[in-house]
Amino acid sequence: MEVAKMNKLMALTLMVLCSFVFLGKAGKQLPKKQTYIIHMDKSQMPTDFTDHMEWYGSSLRLVSDAADVLYSYDTVLHGFSTRLSPEESRSLEQLPGILSVTPEVKYELHTTRSPEFLGLEGDNSSSPQAVFPASGSGSEVIVGVLDTGVWPELKSFDDSGLGPIPSRWKGACEEGNNFNSNSCNRKLVGARYFSKGYEAAMGPINESMESKSPRDDDGHGTHTSTTAAGSPVSGASLFGFASGKARGMAPQARVAAYKVCWLGGCFGSDILAAMDKAVVDGVDVISMSIGGEVADYFRDTVSIGAFTAMSNGILVSCSAGNAGPSSESIGNVAPWITTVGAGTLDREFPAYVTLGNGKKYMGVSLYGGKSISNTSLPLVFAGNVSGSLSGDLCMTGSLTPSKVAGKIVVCDRGGNSRAQKGVVVRNAGGLGMILANTEYYGEELVADAHILPSAALGKKAADAVKRYASSDRNPTATIASGGTHLEVQPSPVVAAFSSRGPNSLNPQVLKPDLIAPGVNILAGWTEAAGPTGLDSDKRRVSFNIISGTSMSCPHVSGLAALLKASHPEWSPAAIKSALMTTSYTTYKDGDTIEDVATGNPSTPFDYGAGHVDPMAANDPGLVYDTTVEDYLGFLCALNYTAGLIKRATNRDFTCSGKKYRVEDLNYPSFAVPFETASSRTGGAGSTSMVKYTRTLTNVGSPGTYKASISSGTPTVKISVEPGMLSFGGMNEKKSYTVMFVASSMPSGTISFAHLEWSDGKHKVRSPIAFSWT
Ligand SMILES: *[C@@H]1O[C@H](CO)[C@@H](O)[C@H](O)[C@H]1NC(C)=O
Ligand SMILES: *[C@@H]1O[C@H](CO)[C@@H](O)[C@H](O)[C@H]1NC(C)=O
Ligand SMILES: *[C@@H]1O[C@H](CO)[C@@H](O)[C@H](O)[C@H]1NC(C)=O
Ligand SMILES: *[C@@H]1O[C@H](CO)[C@@H](O)[C@H](O)[C@H]1NC(C)=O
Ligand SMILES: *[C@@H]1O[C@H](CO)[C@@H](O)[C@H](O)[C@H]1NC(C)=O
Repeated sequence: MEVAKMNKLMALTLMVLCSFVFLGKAGKQLPKKQTYIIHMDKSQMPTDFTDHMEWYGSSLRLVSDAADVLYSYDTVLHGFSTRLSPEESRSLEQLPGILSVTPEVKYELHTTRSPEFLGLEGDNSSSPQAVFPASGSGSEVIVGVLDTGVWPELKSFDDSGLGPIPSRWKGACEEGNNFNSNSCNRKLVGARYFSKGYEAAMGPINESMESKSPRDDDGHGTHTSTTAAGSPVSGASLFGFASGKARGMAPQARVAAYKVCWLGGCFGSDILAAMDKAVVDGVDVISMSIGGEVADYFRDTVSIGAFTAMSNGILVSCSAGNAGPSSESIGNVAPWITTVGAGTLDREFPAYVTLGNGKKYMGVSLYGGKSISNTSLPLVFAGNVSGSLSGDLCMTGSLTPSKVAGKIVVCDRGGNSRAQKGVVVRNAGGLGMILANTEYYGEELVADAHILPSAALGKKAADAVKRYASSDRNPTATIASGGTHLEVQPSPVVAAFSSRGPNSLNPQVLKPDLIAPGVNILAGWTEAAGPTGLDSDKRRVSFNIISGTSMSCPHVSGLAALLKASHPEWSPAAIKSALMTTSYTTYKDGDTIEDVATGNPSTPFDYGAGHVDPMAANDPGLVYDTTVEDYLGFLCALNYTAGLIKRATNRDFTCSGKKYRVEDLNYPSFAVPFETASSRTGGAGSTSMVKYTRTLTNVGSPGTYKASISSGTPTVKISVEPGMLSFGGMNEKKSYTVMFVASSMPSGTISFAHLEWSDGKHKVRSPIAFSWT
C-alpha cells in the first residue's frame, strides 16, 4: 500500500477506533487487535495441506504476518482463534474455506440446606438413597464445570469410598502455579485451565494475584462445583450460619474443573476451548454459570459449544442470568441448553434492627463477628453524612468520618457491592450498617458475610428506619443477629434477580426452563479470598453462602447427573424434559409460587416449567425427547441457510423441502406469541389461531394418558387433539397437536395456562405462556 494512502486510511481508522496499541519495534501505530474465532469448513481444505493446523496457519499468514493461533478447535467447531485487527479479520473472511470470523465476546459469572429442601436427604425406603443409585452407576457420571477453577484441598473433594475413575475418562489434571497432578483424585477427576484468550486480551496473568493453573482464586468455581457434586461434609457452616452437612446434589458423581474465568473476566476463545476439550474428555454434564448478551445461535459461543456437547449426549446446564426482575432479561436461551432461574430455600438468616422508639424490624445478615446487639448506637443516614452527591450509596471514600465514627449508618443498595458498603462504613469509623432496599430492590433480601454488624432491610422496613432517623432528635438503633431460621414459608419464592422471559431471540421457546435454589446457598469456597471476595477481607472460610443463578445452575447440573446415573439411556433432552414436566408451580396449599420482586404470584416467564422436584423427575412417565435432527429442523424453521447452520452447529445440514415450524420443536413447554389486531389485517375483534405439535415418549409403565388444561384466562381457547394417548411399550412415541385460538388483546398483554397429561399416577405438566406483541 502506498504511504499516502496508508496514512489516510490510518487517520480514518484513528477517528473510528480511538484505541491504539503502540508497536515500539516498527515505530508505527496500528488499530487495536482483538481475538477472533475463525470457523473453517473442514471439507474445503485444499489437498496440498496434510493437516488442518498447516491450513489454518497458511490462511492466517495470508492476512497477517504477526498473528499466532491461540487455540485450534476440533470438536465443537473446526477452526481456531487468533488476534487480528478489524481489517485483517475482514481479509480473512474473504479467503476460501472460512465459514465465519467472529469477534470474541466477553462473558461474566452469574454471581446447604438445598438437599433436604429438594427431598434428597433421609434414609427410609421412599428416600432418594433407594431411588437414586448410591454408588455404582452414580459414580460413573462426570460433571464438567466451566468456571473460576477449583480449591482441591477442601473436604468436599474427598474421594473416600469412590471406586476407580471411569475408564472412559480421557481428561487430565493440568499442572500449573499452585496446582499439580496430585491435586486431582477420584472425586476431582480432571482440572484444566484456559488462559490464552484472557492473556491475549488482558496481558500476562499477574501470578502474585491469580494462579495460572486450575486453582480457584475467586471462590465461585469451587462453590458451583461443590454444589453440583461435592462429597458430603459434616459440620459445615459459615461462621456458624447454615450449619449441618454440606453435600452436592450428586455426591457420588465426579467433578472435572475447566477454569475459563479469571479475575478480569471470562473470554469466548477460552470458553470454546474448554467446551471443545470437555466433550472429548468425556463429561456427561456441563455446568456453566456464565452468561453474555443474547446473540443469534451462529454467533453465540456458549450456544455453539453446547450444540456439539448436546449431540454427544452431554446435558448443558446454564444460569439464566441475574438481570431480573425486568422482563426479557433472560440469557442462554438456546433450546439445546437447560436454562436455570433461581428461587429461595426455606432458610433465612435474620438480623434485627431495634430503633430507639422501640420498633423492631427483621432483615438478614451473615455477619459472624463480635456483636453490638446490646449497644444502642446513634443512627445516621449516609446521604446526610457524606460529601458526595449520591452519598446514600456509601461509595468508596464518600462518608465523612467525623459524622460517622461510632455510629450505625443507613446505606442505600446499588452502585457498588453490598459487602463493599460495609467496608466503606467501617473505614469511616462506623460500627454498624443498615443496608436499605430502594424501590428497585423491593423486599428482596440477600444475605452477605459483612465485615461489620449489619442488617439488610426490605424497602418497607428501610423506609420506616429512614423516617425515624429524620424525625427523631437523637435517633439510635441496635443490630442483632438471629442465627439461622429453617422452614421459612412461603418457600420457594422466585428471586428478584433471577432473569425473566419472554425469550427475546425466539419468543416461541419459553425460557427459563425451570428454577432451582439460588439464594443464600452454602457450598465450598477458596482459601485465596474471603467470603465477601473483597481484597480487604482477610477472613478465610471453607464454606461460603452466596446467591445468584450461578448457584441454581449447578443444582440442576447435579440433579441431571443423578438422572443420568439412574437412566443412562436418556438423552439430554429427555433429562431436561423429566426435570421440567415434574417440577411444581404451587405450594402445598395450592397457591402459586410467589415472585419476591412483586409479592404477587409468579408466572412461567419467571419460573419456566416450575421449581425442580428431583424425586418426581426420576419417574416422569413420559418425556418430550428432542433429537439433533429436531434442533436442526428448528434452525431450518428460522430460515437459517446451510452456512449459518454449519456455524451454529458445526454440522453439514441442508433443510429439505419439508415445511419446518418453530412451533413444532418438541419442547416440554409452550410459548405462544400473538400479534395484536392493529398490527394485522382483520382489525379489532378478530381471533388468531396457531397449532403446536408435540411427541411424547413413554419412559414408564404402559398406560393411557389424558390431557387436561388449566387456564387462568378466557382469552385463549385451547384444544388438544387427540385428548387421550395410550402407550404400550417402553419408548413408544405418540404425537398430539394443541390448537390455540386467541381473542385480540392489547399489545403487552400476557396470560398463562398449563397442559397436563396424566395416567392417574404420573403428571406430565407443561406451562403455556401467551403474549401479545
Ligand atoms: C421417608 O422419606 C421421605 C422422603 O425423604 C419423607 O417424606 C418421609 O416422611 C420419610 N418417612 C419416614 C417414616 O421417615
Ligand atoms: C502484580 O500484582 C501485585 C500485587 O497487586 C503488584 O504489586 C504488582 O505490581 C503486579 N505486577 C504487575 C506486573 O502488574
Ligand atoms: C446482651 O445482654 C444479655 C442480657 O443482659 C446477655 O445475656 C447477653 O450475653 C449480652 N450479649 C452480648 C453480645 O453481650
Ligand atoms: C437528612 O438531612 C435532612 C436535612 O437536614 C433532613 O431533613 C432529613 O430528615 C435527614 N434524613 C435522614 C434520613 O436523617
Ligand atoms: C422464514 O421465511 C418464510 C418464507 O419467507 C416466512 O414466512 C417466515 O416468517 C420466516 N420465518 C422466520 C422465523 O423468519
